[in-house]
Amino acid sequence: NPTILLPADIYPNRRNSAGVDLADPTVRGPLLADLDRLEKREWDENVEAGSAREVRSPQDRRKVLGHVHDATEAEIDDMFARALAAQPAWDAMGGLKRAALLDKAADLFEQHTNEFISLCQREAGKTAIDGILEVREAVDFLRYYACEARMLFGAPQPMPGPTGEENLLRLHGRGVFVTISPWNFPLAIFTGPAAAALAAGNTVIAKPAEQTPLIAALATHLCHEAGIPEDVFHLAPGDGKVGAMLTSDTRLSGVAFTGSSATAHAINRNLAAREGAIATLVAETGGQNAMIVDSSALPEQVTRDVMASAFQSAGQRCSALRVLYLQDDIADSMLEMIRGAFEALVIGDPADLATDVGPVIDDEAKEKLEAHIAEMKAKGNTVWQRELPPYCDHGSFVPPTIIEVDSISELEEEHFGPVLHVARFPAARLAETVDEINAVGFGLTLGLHSRIDAVRRLVESRARVGNLYVNRNQIGAVVGSQPFGGEGLSGTGPKAGGPHYVSRFATERVTTVDT
Ligand code: SER
Repeated sequence: NPTILLPADIYPNRRNSAGVDLADPTVRGPLLADLDRLEKREWDENVEAGSAREVRSPQDRRKVLGHVHDATEAEIDDMFARALAAQPAWDAMGGLKRAALLDKAADLFEQHTNEFISLCQREAGKTAIDGILEVREAVDFLRYYACEARMLFGAPQPMPGPTGEENLLRLHGRGVFVTISPWNFPLAIFTGPAAAALAAGNTVIAKPAEQTPLIAALATHLCHEAGIPEDVFHLAPGDGKVGAMLTSDTRLSGVAFTGSSATAHAINRNLAAREGAIATLVAETGGQNAMIVDSSALPEQVTRDVMASAFQSAGQRCSALRVLYLQDDIADSMLEMIRGAFEALVIGDPADLATDVGPVIDDEAKEKLEAHIAEMKAKGNTVWQRELPPYCDHGSFVPPTIIEVDSISELEEEHFGPVLHVARFPAARLAETVDEINAVGFGLTLGLHSRIDAVRRLVESRARVGNLYVNRNQIGAVVGSQPFGGEGLSGTGPKAGGPHYVSRFATERVTTVDT
């Protein structure tokens, strides 16, 4: 029996990934040279299996960066058969050995950082800094869930035996988990849920977003190279039809999904309609995230944090700021500063280190955002919009936009891109403003800029959100420090990168032995 490891024995050894320091010229020079070299590389994934699909760059639709073979019905059937057969041995291996393989995968991810950054730029249109953060987060998920595997699956937990009996609680994998991940974190959120499911002793079939299969393929290959068997971790690229096939299969025990609230509901219906084990659903969905700024806030800090929260990653984070609430007596002066910073945003080529805002993921996303902006203009709302430079002509770019609205309830859905809405509130209606934000039904992130303790306490006690950020930006939750995820329309929990995540992927068994 391995000795029982307590959290204190494990967590001090965990370090978040150091990432890449772009400010250091000895690091930046070689990175840029490598990205230049990788720019020319073609990525072909499983094309020998036939019917390869082109993958194009969002910053320039004329550029094909590779090809991918999408999973067929027969291949999915085979994946389930193999995943099911491999699960008992993977579960029996125990948490310590599984953790070692996840740690090895994390090391390999770090060694392949530049390839991942290049793919993040070319396949997902991410800026270099977003690419770097993406690799760090994926590595952090692998190492954090490895710690959890050691702690929760290392040894049985003895329970009290009031009549002298022995009670041992053990955690096991549930079976086969399907993970479905989004294009906006094509590496981090592809890796996180799969790593948690694997840590808990499940085998996994992972479906990456249709737009970003090549990053997922590289991640999968590195996991295999680390020693996670191919029958334990399968890649199933494809569109929504592949997702529907996967989530309708009777052989799965759980689904971990990140994406829209509507798709989470559809998955729930698929799971309910099928026979077989009653499946666990972990869903991390959207947000209609607000930030509240009162008259005690520091204007320069607000300006910086609004820019990052609304426009970093071209606004394509589920945590991103959508509706900024400014206290009415400071609203005009605050907006003037925000517009100054907004006019200075650099839009264009994600490969250029100076770029702040790259493309959105595809033309469908672009058209939806453009339709929303046009509708707001037609309604007579005040709209400020940047001009796109000529570089953007061939890509899926949306000009950064600020739109004045009366309240959050004017928006019917989440607008996933570089579009910030601004509303005003009187100081006397702070509580009602929080209620108005709650009433939308999402509950992911909320920003607050205030130097008044009573304001913070009121917002903290009233807001129904998973992540409240005070006097800073509201994006970029750090694994192990800011467990991330919401409630209501924003998801089921548990929080990614937090201490309760991995156990949701496990089943509990107790053995009682009488003396
Ligand atoms: N975890 C990301 C963030 O915090 C959002 O998905 O920005």
